[in-house]
Amino acid sequence: MILVTGGLGYIGSHTCVALQRAGHALTIVDNLANSKIGVLERIRALGGGSVEFHRADLRDGPALAAAFERHPVEAVIHFAGYKAVGESVAKPLEYYDNNIGGTFVLLDTMARFSVHRIVFSSSATVYGDPQRLPLTEDHPLGAVNPYGRTKQFIESILTDVAAGTPGFRHATLRYFNPMGAHPSGRLGEDPRGIPNNLFPYITQVAIGRLQKLRVFGNDYDTVDGTGVRDFIHVMDLAEGHVAALRYLLEKDRSITANLGTGRGNSVLEVVGAFERVTGIRIPHEFAPRRPGDVASCYADVSRAFAELGWKTKLGIEDMCRDGWAWQSANPQGYPD
Ligand code: NAD
Ligand code: UD1
Repeated sequence: MILVTGGLGYIGSHTCVALQRAGHALTIVDNLANSKIGVLERIRALGGGSVEFHRADLRDGPALAAAFERHPVEAVIHFAGYKAVGESVAKPLEYYDNNIGGTFVLLDTMARFSVHRIVFSSSATVYGDPQRLPLTEDHPLGAVNPYGRTKQFIESILTDVAAGTPGFRHATLRYFNPMGAHPSGRLGEDPRGIPNNLFPYITQVAIGRLQKLRVFGNDYDTVDGTGVRDFIHVMDLAEGHVAALRYLLEKDRSITANLGTGRGNSVLEVVGAFERVTGIRIPHEFAPRRPGDVASCYADVSRAFAELGWKTKLGIEDMCRDGWAWQSANPQGYPD
């Protein structure tokens, strides 16, 4: 049994499908802080395996322990947390409490049940402003906002726990920019309110919920002046977790690895790909740079390939096609 925290969220839900397809039985723990219960039935239908669900907050130790009690847990995949950069600046204590406090209770509960394997959702945001590209895992860390600092602290906590606990192993996965959806159009990204991130903003313009994309900055030193990111299909990312889990269970070592494609695409390239794939025009205008943004950010992915035997298979057009399949079939996201 694999216990998945935050398994009803965007990346967790896609990963739960991939995990079932790889033969794993799952227990999901989620408090629905940023997800809807209807996702569960879709995860079950698409994955075809066994999925138990516990509605619980990670910080509630007894409720979390109840999820560990029913079946022996082989490993944990830990997605649960808050992820909005701007909100973390306004509400730092909520971010430290939920992300670090939640991880603390989780690690404590794992220790009590002698569970020694964890895959953790970190982020490329831990690198801060890139000093050199592509970003390798040994690039200095320097998160520049409270959200990023929670990820950086949790990485350190995992390193410390591994050093102090014989047999404890972690796979710390630094995601670049996840985008797209399950190809069925049944699962996807369903942000609350106006999206902060580029791709859900584009799909909501396409569906008519938003009028026009604002492109933040067209004077960066990049191919066309707009920001460049390493966009990774969420299904490739999901497979990265399956590979990391296999590594923990078979190789019995810890690892920190970037999960990206190794290639950068500009904001205008994403808009162009979306328009080509869907035939829908995305009205856009140039706006000033967004504070805190960097010009370019993309991964060196050689470690994930060498150690995990994993690399991405899908490209920007696949992300646009599948993301649009989701948004067009679910114009208002998941039903309440
Ligand atoms: P998400 O918000 O869609 O999913 C997170 C899930 O965790 C939600 O279902 C939410 O209800 C749940 N949750 C939050 N706090 C909880 C708590 N205390 N107890 C139980 N459940 C709780 O986010 P996502 O995009 O799927 O991201 C998953 C993880 O990956 C997060 O840790 C995020 O920081 C990290 N990450 C995401 C991105 C991205 O672009 N989406 C990039 C890098 C890293
Ligand atoms: C952001 C977060 C990062 C987080 C990631 C995934 C910041 C500074 N970084 O990354 O910590 O891990 O989301 O949740 O917030 N853009 C537009 N118009 C828009 C939206 C975005 O032009 O309406 C541009 C941005 O300026 C950027 C690119 O699109 O150049 C990607 O932006 P976004 O999707 O928000 O991701 P990041 O900023 O890379």
